[in-house]
Parts: sequence; structure tokens; C-alpha cells
Amino acid sequence: MRILSGIQPSGALHLGNYFGMMKPAIELQEQGEALYFIADYHSMTSLTSAAQRRQNTLDVALDFLACGLDPKKSVFWRQSDVPEVTELTWLLSTVTPMGLLERCTSYKEKIAKGVSPNHGLFAYPVLMAADILIFDSNIVPVGRDQKQHIEITRDIATKFNELYGPTFVIPQPQIKEEVAVVPGTDGQKMSKSYGNSIEIFGDEKILHKKVMGILMDSRTPEEPKADADKNLAIQLFKLVAAPDVAEDFTERLRAGGLGYGELKKGLFEHYWSYFAPARARRAELATNLDYVNQVLNNGAAKARTLAQSVLRRAKVASGLA
Ligand code: ADP
Ligand code: TRP
Repeated sequence: MRILSGIQPSGALHLGNYFGMMKPAIELQEQGEALYFIADYHSMTSLTSAAQRRQNTLDVALDFLACGLDPKKSVFWRQSDVPEVTELTWLLSTVTPMGLLERCTSYKEKIAKGVSPNHGLFAYPVLMAADILIFDSNIVPVGRDQKQHIEITRDIATKFNELYGPTFVIPQPQIKEEVAVVPGTDGQKMSKSYGNSIEIFGDEKILHKKVMGILMDSRTPEEPKADADKNLAIQLFKLVAAPDVAEDFTERLRAGGLGYGELKKGLFEHYWSYFAPARARRAELATNLDYVNQVLNNGAAKARTLAQSVLRRAKVASGLA
């Protein structure tokens, strides 16, 4: 079984990235052949600073390795080190109906937010389909916001297989219900681009301030809160604390008497200790960037060999070779 996922180096990684994608992906490396990459080509659709891309790419590599991606179990590389995906993207784009891309929610949302779209942003799902199909991937662990992209990948693969004969494996998304959408400090989906994220790593004071800034209502501490389960801090608490601890805080909030300040203080402490081992590993990795680059280079060499054979299959099927 092949498992594949990617993450864009478009900013510092946050709890949504971690619980929605990284943690499930890291768990899956025990269960099959795991392939994970840093989607630097994709980041070009939104980020135009070369220096920033370089820095973010290194940060994503450090974050992922610190969180438990094990290069002995997983192949880990930079997307642009396997340029075969861009060639496959062209083949796939010729079987991709315009309407399929026009209906894409993430594209429409970006336009609605005032982003002036480039062709890369519009064609983004085709590059993503190539990422997935070029490795014969069976399972793609992602957060819910990526579900439609995987459905598009399945449609493109099916169309290509119908036109040119069986070529691609049809992949399945794997979306963990409990963490499908991790809320940000404002209650919307946590996202690098919404200014509502709590990062996995960073300066303690800044992150403390972010946690203390999680949106609450104006009810007094004494008031019992029947809807305690919906409280944003409680939702995050359940991710970073042991179940009995999270349940205890939820009960105290429900009963009344627990102030929001105290709740958030508790959340911060649990969040900070949850990532303490990863923080120590990250600090150590940061002193050994040669090792990190070597992991990415070795990963690229392995990934390239796999990609070349599937690209070849697609070229033969479509009469290019
Ligand atoms: P962002 O929205 O912050 O730019 P990305 O699009 O780079 O995040 O997402 C990388 C991975 O993390 C994807 O698999 C995505 O589904 C997952 N992810 C991002 N935000 C969340 C969230 N708030 N809850 C659950 N999963 C998320
Ligand atoms: N689009 C994904 C995101 O923004 C990143 C990504 C690119 C990806 N290619 C992929 C995820 C292939 C899974 C499989 O999160």
C-alpha cells in the first residue's frame, strides 16, 4: 500500500496542519510505503518571494522531521526535485475538463477573498493530481479542505484510463473525522492565510498571546455553559491533553465557575508540554542542516525513480513514447 501526502511551504505550520495531516501521515508510515513531500511548486501560486520560499521549505522539513517523520520509514523530498510531475501535469491537463476546475471550491474561495488568480492557481488541482498519480498512490491523508482536490484527481485518472487504457491507480482520501477541521482562534478553519493560527513551533510569548486571544463570548465565569463542548479552547484542549484532563476542564466549564482566562491558561500549558519533545528535536535538527538536506536529497532520488516509471507508462499509453 502506498501512502502519499504533501504540504505547501507557504508559512509556519500550525495545529490544523499537525492534527489534520501531519500526525495521521506520521502514524501511517508504520502501515505502508509512505511518501511525503514539500509542495514548493504549489507554493508559487501564492508566494512570490524566493527567499521566503527557501526559508519556509527548510522550516517545513525541520517541522515534519521534528514531529516524527522518520526518514528510515518514509520517503521525504522537495516536490521540485522531481520535475517529472510537471511533465505529467501537461498530459493530465489535456484530459481535464475546464468545468471541473471552475467548480473548485478552494479556487472560488480565493477569488472571493480578492486574490487575483494566475493560471497556476487555476491549474493547481492538475499539478496535485500529477503528484498523487505519478506515485501509484493508494491513500492520501489530508484535512477535509483537500477532499475535493482528491475527487478531481480521481476524475482525471478515470478519464485518462478510459481514453488511453488502464494507466493510473485510483487513490482514496483518508480524512480523520475528529480532526477534519481544526478551528482557529477566531472559530473559522485554522489556516496560514487567515491570521488565526496557533503554530506548532515558535516563540513562547507570542504563542501564549495567541492562545489567550482565542475568541470567547461575554458570559461570566459563574454561568454554567451547557454548550461547553463547542467552546474553541475546549476543542483544542481535546487535541493536546489526555482525555480525562480535557473532560475535567469541559465539565468545570459546563458546571460554571471556570473562567475563560483560566481555561486558556490550562490549554496553553498542555499545548506547550504536548510539543516539548518535538521542540527539543527541532532545536537539535536545526544545528544539523547538512543532515536535513541529505534526507531531502536521498528522498528525491528515490521518489524520482518511482515517478519516472509511472511517467513512462503514461507516455507509452498516450503515444508519446
Ligand atoms: P493552510 O490552509 O494553513 O494553508 P494547507 O493548505 O497548506 O494549510 O494544508 C496542509 C494540510 O493540512 C492539508 O492536508 C490540509 O487539509 C491540512 N489542514 C490545514 N488546515 C487544517 C485545519 N484547520 N484542520 C484540519 N486540517 C487542516
Ligand atoms: N494542496 C495541498 C494543500 O494545500 C498540498 C498538496 C499538494 C498535496 N500536492 C498534494 C496534498 C498531493 C496531498 C497530495 O494542503
